[in-house]
Amino acid sequence: MQTWAKTTFDWMADKYSRNLRIAAEEEMIPYAGGHGRWQGAPYDGNSWWTGGFWPGLMWHFYAATGDEAFLLEARRVEKLLINELMTFEKLNHDVGFMYLLSCGADYKLTGDAISARHTLHAATLLAGRYNPNGFIRAWDQDRAGWSIIDSMMNLCLLYWATKYTGDPRFEQIACLHADTTLREFVREDGSCYHIVIFDPYTGAALEKPAGQGYAAGSSWSRGQAWALYGFTLTYMATRHARYLEAACRIADYFVAHIRSDGLTDSDFLQPRDVERIDNIAGACAACGLMELEKLVDPALSVVYHAAAEKMLYALGESSADWTGGTMGVLQKCTAAYHDDGAGRHINLVYGDYFFAEALAKRNGSDPMLWLTERG
Ligand code: GLY
Repeated sequence: MQTWAKTTFDWMADKYSRNLRIAAEEEMIPYAGGHGRWQGAPYDGNSWWTGGFWPGLMWHFYAATGDEAFLLEARRVEKLLINELMTFEKLNHDVGFMYLLSCGADYKLTGDAISARHTLHAATLLAGRYNPNGFIRAWDQDRAGWSIIDSMMNLCLLYWATKYTGDPRFEQIACLHADTTLREFVREDGSCYHIVIFDPYTGAALEKPAGQGYAAGSSWSRGQAWALYGFTLTYMATRHARYLEAACRIADYFVAHIRSDGLTDSDFLQPRDVERIDNIAGACAACGLMELEKLVDPALSVVYHAAAEKMLYALGESSADWTGGTMGVLQKCTAAYHDDGAGRHINLVYGDYFFAEALAKRNGSDPMLWLTERG
């Protein structure tokens, strides 16, 4: 598997090294891979939540190859994202995804002090979204009490800020949010809600509506992956046993729902006769399982290891596009179960990001951009 992962990662880096100049020439941040050109974000321009995955990919390829072209491309997009930080019009809780994988990665891999300041700026914005009733506000407009499972991944920015400054407030906020998520989002069987709407004045949980999954109360697979990897990272950052227990419960549920072909349905409770796959969920869950396998007892470790291998291998063998005329690699990425506006069964850059990260974990080149250091 290690050799396969190395070869597949190298093919990916090679395809990206040929196609990154097309994005640079258009001065854009790629969101999806098309034929002959990249496509930008479907909404909110460069403030769309996925903007950090492109530089994140570049930093992975740079860490593995040392090729300066990847560093320059990561920094080109880092500048565009810093503009968004300054205008501060459409940013939300996803500043974790956006700035940890861009500015935070730059600081981690090059020690650039200005990038560290921008990362801290983003962390301060995320901390400012904390509602003292115990949750981080996800989105803006009239959604003051809305919190979503995706935030579990953004918490890494707060762990980073506590490590960087020595100020415990960031990590304290992250743990308060993680505890609320554990209580209100994670169900007994290890599945998770996507959205919980709280009363922003009292913190009472009012509603758990459908989000990007099939229906209210269903199991949107990417949300399960955010929770799996997010609780694993939260355990790695804090070493509180309750987060490891949560990560394992969520992982067990995920593993039980992997398709026989190794790919991942968009929602684990979607109708059986519907073909709706989200390979981003599988790639992200594989990353979480590969970290989790190092933290659990040997019997469980074998299970998580095998599940991650099965998913990763399936992605590479049945869903990767190595042809020359297209931009990205991983196919069958689905942004949301019902709404196709952000893409269904196409290549999305954040799918490629998690695929590359998973391959890097297996081939030993992962710079672990989510955490400052392994806890
Ligand atoms: N953070 C939004 C998503 O996973 O689509």
